[in-house]
Amino acid sequence: MEFKGSSILSISQFERGDIDRIFRVADRMEPYAQRQKITRVLEGAILGNMFFEASTRTRISFGSAFNLLGGEVRETVGFEASALAKGESLQDTARVLSGFSDIICMRHPQSGSVADFASVSRVPVINGGDGSNEHPSQALLDLYTIEKELKGHGRQLDGLRIAMIGDLKHGRTVHSLCKLLMLFQHVSVQLVSPVELAMPRELVEDMRAAGIQVEESERLESSISHVDIVYSTRIQEERFSSKDEADLYRGRFRLNQAIYTSHCEPNTVIMHPLPRDSRAEANELDRDLDSNPNLAIFRQTDNGLLVRMALFAMILDVTHLIEKYATEVRWFNPRQPAC
Ligand code: CP
Repeated sequence: MEFKGSSILSISQFERGDIDRIFRVADRMEPYAQRQKITRVLEGAILGNMFFEASTRTRISFGSAFNLLGGEVRETVGFEASALAKGESLQDTARVLSGFSDIICMRHPQSGSVADFASVSRVPVINGGDGSNEHPSQALLDLYTIEKELKGHGRQLDGLRIAMIGDLKHGRTVHSLCKLLMLFQHVSVQLVSPVELAMPRELVEDMRAAGIQVEESERLESSISHVDIVYSTRIQEERFSSKDEADLYRGRFRLNQAIYTSHCEPNTVIMHPLPRDSRAEANELDRDLDSNPNLAIFRQTDNGLLVRMALFAMILDVTHLIEKYATEVRWFNPRQPAC
């Protein structure tokens, strides 16, 4: 695809070669994300960061990625702080805000809303999560993490074995990740969820049609025994009609060190898009896994910065300038890599 000037709304718009191009630009972002060097290729550019639904990682990661390339960030957080609360349409908001920004990242609780916004925006729009539909930048950073983790064990993305666990009906990160995996060969996917929260049928059928071996189950232990990646997810309480309904499913699939030791292969990587729900009644990824070297959840968030920097650089067409405008960091750098 042509990245220059493009919106990123769905994983469906990518071909396999596009993914490799993003990942190789992401690799080049490492010295800037690690604060070993500075680059100012987006100096003067403005990111409109519009989050109409709660976020920690995605909002700050997009904002930091833009800052690290030298650009500035303007934000709207929540409906109540925006004119949407006065009845303004999303399309009118898009027409206005795209006049103030060079690129926009947006999260919204309604499926399809970001595409609707992008249809009238005068600048590229990146989908930061639209309801239960998609979260493409999360899937890209997840797959980038998987590629790095597998490389450490001499493996590649083709032949990947992954288990996805939890609320697969509402989880937009797994929807985007499944679409991404369809671009690779000899992939097998174990889907573990309560039957009421199963992966949408259409996605399962699309994966099978793409050659992915898909198995569905309600049993955690047997599904994680022969996989490279265990990808746990939270019950998406905000998509249920009540907390009581979400409580019916919360805590159904809990991974802890004892289960990992008993059932997983020694190098199985543990991932989660975060936030993990650490409340006692949920605890889908126990904190006793925090000292497990195969827990990659904070490597995922670090990688997210690299992938989002790459997307900005490619969409705004400055990848050829990154190293040319690099300078040295002058301040004390206390940073340690995430473990
Ligand atoms: N993974 C993710 O989307 O996290 P946030 O909700 O904190 O942005």
